[in-house]
Amino acid sequence: MSTYTIVVIVAIALVALAAILLLGTARRRDRDLAVGQLSRETQKRDADARTGAKTPQPPSGRDYENAVALARSGKAEIEPVVAKAPVAYVPPDAETLGVTRRQFLNRSIVGFMVMSLSGFGAAVIAYLWPSASGGFGAQITIGAATDVRARIKANNGFLYVPEGRAWVTEYPTTAVPKGQAAYPAVLHPILQAGFTALWQTCPHLGCRVPECKTSQWFECPCHGSQYNRNGEKKGGPAPRGMDRFPGILDPKGNLVINTGQIIQGPPIGTNTTGQEAEGPHCIGSAGGHGA
Ligand code: FES
Repeated sequence: MSTYTIVVIVAIALVALAAILLLGTARRRDRDLAVGQLSRETQKRDADARTGAKTPQPPSGRDYENAVALARSGKAEIEPVVAKAPVAYVPPDAETLGVTRRQFLNRSIVGFMVMSLSGFGAAVIAYLWPSASGGFGAQITIGAATDVRARIKANNGFLYVPEGRAWVTEYPTTAVPKGQAAYPAVLHPILQAGFTALWQTCPHLGCRVPECKTSQWFECPCHGSQYNRNGEKKGGPAPRGMDRFPGILDPKGNLVINTGQIIQGPPIGTNTTGQEAEGPHCIGSAGGHGA
């Protein structure tokens, strides 16, 4: 399954999850099964409705207005205001308020979860996105084979491809039969094209391995592992040769490497090119530990 497919699946799953959570939060579950206490006024009104009794109500402002209008017209007198005892405080009905404390807390928790999942999903997509758009983990077109050879020569035998975290070197055509015998079939096309694409990471403990232009080898500054120009181990504590990427020449003659498929380096002792150090070493000397 390609990285792009994984990104799309993760995005769809997160959107579906967020929609489910939001719908669950928005829906009031207590609508059909409301529990709680009716206020005293409501209970009294309900009781009156059942018995047909009428609870006397204090005169309203409209009543006073009508009384004043009648008095002015001489048809009636203003009804004197009767002092009444203050009405006892009745706490507001929870149902009238709409959202109980429990509902508020539940919705806060669900909302927080939705935000956390959204943040996590965004981080996952951001992590995977470069792979889907051509960086490390994707197919990388280095350039026309003739240009790549020229660039390797211009850089004294090594071409660094930062977006692929890879070194590209020339593989001698005379060594191809040996290379095909020593390496898995997936690496044969790039060897036949005359190149090797090596992952920059040292198979010992993961340091970035630089080239050594004097010896024409790769020499790791961390613990001194050494590899020839084809990434085959020559010295130091590394357990194998440098890991590498498959590659092909596309129909237009461009070298394309696949950094999404890392092939484990060859075992100690593999030496398909027979390339020895061509000058002084940059780090230590050859054949130190188990070469
Ligand atoms: S990390 Fe390269 S030799 Fe140890």
